[in-house]
Amino acid sequence: MAKSITVSAPGKLMLLGEHSVVYGFPCIVTAMDTRMRVTVEFCDGDTDLIITPQVKESKFVTQSLKLFKNKFKIKQAVKIQTQGDFSHQVGLGSSSAVTVATFKALSELFNKSLSNKEIFDLSYSVTIAIQGVGSGFDIAAATFGKTVYYVYGGKVIDLIKTEELPLVVGYSGLKADTPTLVRKVKADYEINKNRVTGIFKEITLLVNKAKIAILDKNYQQLGLLMNKNHCLLQNLRVSTPKLDAMVKASIKAGVYGAKLSGAGGGDCMIALVPLEKRTEVENAITKVGGSIINVNNNAQGVRLE
Ligand code: MEV
Repeated sequence: MAKSITVSAPGKLMLLGEHSVVYGFPCIVTAMDTRMRVTVEFCDGDTDLIITPQVKESKFVTQSLKLFKNKFKIKQAVKIQTQGDFSHQVGLGSSSAVTVATFKALSELFNKSLSNKEIFDLSYSVTIAIQGVGSGFDIAAATFGKTVYYVYGGKVIDLIKTEELPLVVGYSGLKADTPTLVRKVKADYEINKNRVTGIFKEITLLVNKAKIAILDKNYQQLGLLMNKNHCLLQNLRVSTPKLDAMVKASIKAGVYGAKLSGAGGGDCMIALVPLEKRTEVENAITKVGGSIINVNNNAQGVRLE
């Protein structure tokens, strides 16, 4: 039988530290067990066949394949098929997951035994080539999985020992464009460097305290830090009335804490929730027009299926 390799990689959720991470400050990200699957096999002829029904950006697969073939001087044509548990619409990291899974699958097919750090570096260079901006936190989540304390470009990738966090994820119904929001913050930064750097430093204090709160399973404290992080993101002008309403409704329903997650401008918010309040919080978020995404966090990184 022809050799066929299937690999999957998880999506991500930013816990704390979005935007400031782009400027060299740390963030905390957790991997989601919504996964992108990539199947690769050899094919006849010299034209690669790329089938990506669920991924808008087939360019991530194409670019990864090109880079891999150049690196290892490979001419053999391949067929690559992707399949996903989640839509690229909700901003949970389908592009980074598919990129990481493509490199892992190709390295298995061609017996190149790339380490996770090598997969991270290759995938990050693909993201930068395509998007132009990005800290790479999503690539770290897709590669290493679990919950990670992360610094720009993979300078620090520290796994935080934790069990799954009691999170509720609410989707605002609006797809956000991360590069646009990163550029918007950059424009503000260039106008008032001191003010924006001040916000980044405050966020960093929260991120460092959150790392300890996660290790201590101190969800009360973690929740307060998330609330404060949301306020700072409001000051950065990346939240939206809808995200604010979802955060406010969930706080009223009795969460430990809540915040937008990711670039802002739409996509998702997260709430850290006591078990007994889960249904109440989900209803509160739905009532203000959000929809609940049922996903587990602290998931495994890239793996062979
Ligand atoms: C986007 O989900 C998070 C940002 O910090 C961008 C990045 O880190 O690449 C806004």
